Amino acid sequence: MSVSFTSENQARFEKIVAKYETKASALLPTLWLAQEQFGYLSNEVMDYVASLLGMPPSHVYEAVTFYVMFKRKDMGKFCLQICNNITCSMMGSEKLIQVARDELHIGFHEVTEDKMFSLVPVQCLGSCDTAPVVQVNEEYCENLTPETFKELIHRLKTGKTEERPGLSCQ
Ligand code: FES
Repeated sequence: MSVSFTSENQARFEKIVAKYETKASALLPTLWLAQEQFGYLSNEVMDYVASLLGMPPSHVYEAVTFYVMFKRKDMGKFCLQICNNITCSMMGSEKLIQVARDELHIGFHEVTEDKMFSLVPVQCLGSCDTAPVVQVNEEYCENLTPETFKELIHRLKTGKTEERPGLSCQ
């Protein structure tokens, strides 16, 4: 098998597993760790995780396809996850989706040619009081307007953001 954790991540994996009564219970944090290292969860990576945890690969595939936070393919440097559930929708998420399409020229589940951006629709991000919300990788951008979202995309394109882009749109 050609994929494996770095020695640092192997140590982190062992710490994760030690917290649980069974190895199988460590599935989600192990997948998170794998996604952090490999960028996304290819079949090869999922098979690797299954072998580490001593479980059938089908159990790993089920978890990965159930949770939207797990990526099955390279989603580029910035994965823009636009909430389009009821509150965000009422607060203008449709306009944000249009801004993303106009600026990036991609649809949902697509990646820009330069591998900088991808666009994913998500259900409630649990931050309805700050709707509309877009999650950029792991960071939330809240209370967005079409103007501030467009500005954020431009800053991401040009690299003019702090390390935590979600905070740069406040
Ligand atoms: S509906 Fe978008 S965060 Fe709840």
